[in-house]
Amino acid sequence: MRLQGKIALVTGAGSGIGAETARRMAAQGAIVACTDRRGDTAEATAAQIAAAGGTAQGMTLDVTSTESIAAAVARVVAGHGRLDILVNNAGVTIVGGVAELTEAQWDLELDVNLKSVFRCAKAVWGQMQAQGGGVILNTASIAGITAIPSDAAYCTSKAGVVMLTKCMAIDGAGAKIRVNCVCPGFVETPMIQGYFADQPDPEAARRHAANMHPLGRLGRPTDIADAFVYLASDEASWVTGTALVVDGGLISGLPPG
Ligand SMILES: NC(=O)c1ccc[n+]([C@@H]2O[C@H](COP(=O)([O-])OP(=O)(O)OC[C@H]3O[C@@H](n4cnc5c(N)ncnc54)[C@H](O)[C@@H]3O)[C@@H](O)[C@H]2O)c1
Repeated sequence: MRLQGKIALVTGAGSGIGAETARRMAAQGAIVACTDRRGDTAEATAAQIAAAGGTAQGMTLDVTSTESIAAAVARVVAGHGRLDILVNNAGVTIVGGVAELTEAQWDLELDVNLKSVFRCAKAVWGQMQAQGGGVILNTASIAGITAIPSDAAYCTSKAGVVMLTKCMAIDGAGAKIRVNCVCPGFVETPMIQGYFADQPDPEAARRHAANMHPLGRLGRPTDIADAFVYLASDEASWVTGTALVVDGGLISGLPPG
């Protein structure tokens, strides 16, 4: 197994990409702390892992709270003596351009999606240094590379995640802390389903989004989780500072036909 015995903590593990990443890492032998602002959903993911024969623990962790992060990290380290993999995945999306967004919405988006990565990385950095290394993985987005209409705060937050990934990668290299991010295209999760539901014709919006991807479909949480498993594994031992685009070809060019 590719992550045998590794200790992992995943944020936003109660739903979508985070839940699937927790499950896939556990299936590869990792012991996973499934965390989410909604502790009940984190517990549910941990229960699914246990039912499948893996080892996991559900915990409440709000990525906007330094205290909440510190408590969860301390619990993991107290229980296992180390923390090998941190997946900064929790995120929200607040649609709007500069004209529509309020300052409060801007602050919330940047806080949950970007500052959280700084906070969580800071909380594990000393432990990873002391234990001789670790892996930090971040869920960015193609929206951090190419602008999406009426999505200014989200795109900016994810562009920040891409750059913070590179900064942490070079700063962590000497301590053998590898840092990478994944940039998904549109992935079928409750987040994107909520976005479709808000459109005048949700099914047409879903079809349109799928057709924008040259490979002809929306992403599945497993597409992203498998990329995270690779980046967390020793197979990626010479990979750091990368923004791995997993998007069905979305930002490579126009779809065929
Ligand atoms: N779905 C997509 O198309 C897509 C594309 C690119 C990037 N992403 C990114 O993937 C990540 C996961 O999104 P998803 O699509 O699985 O969405 P999701 O809504 O299914 O899951 C997000 C999870 O984050 C949790 N969360 C929100 N705020 C939190 C907080 N303050 N503290 C802790 N947990 C919190 C939610 O409770 C939820 O369980 C996000 O960072 C998102 O921006 C998603």
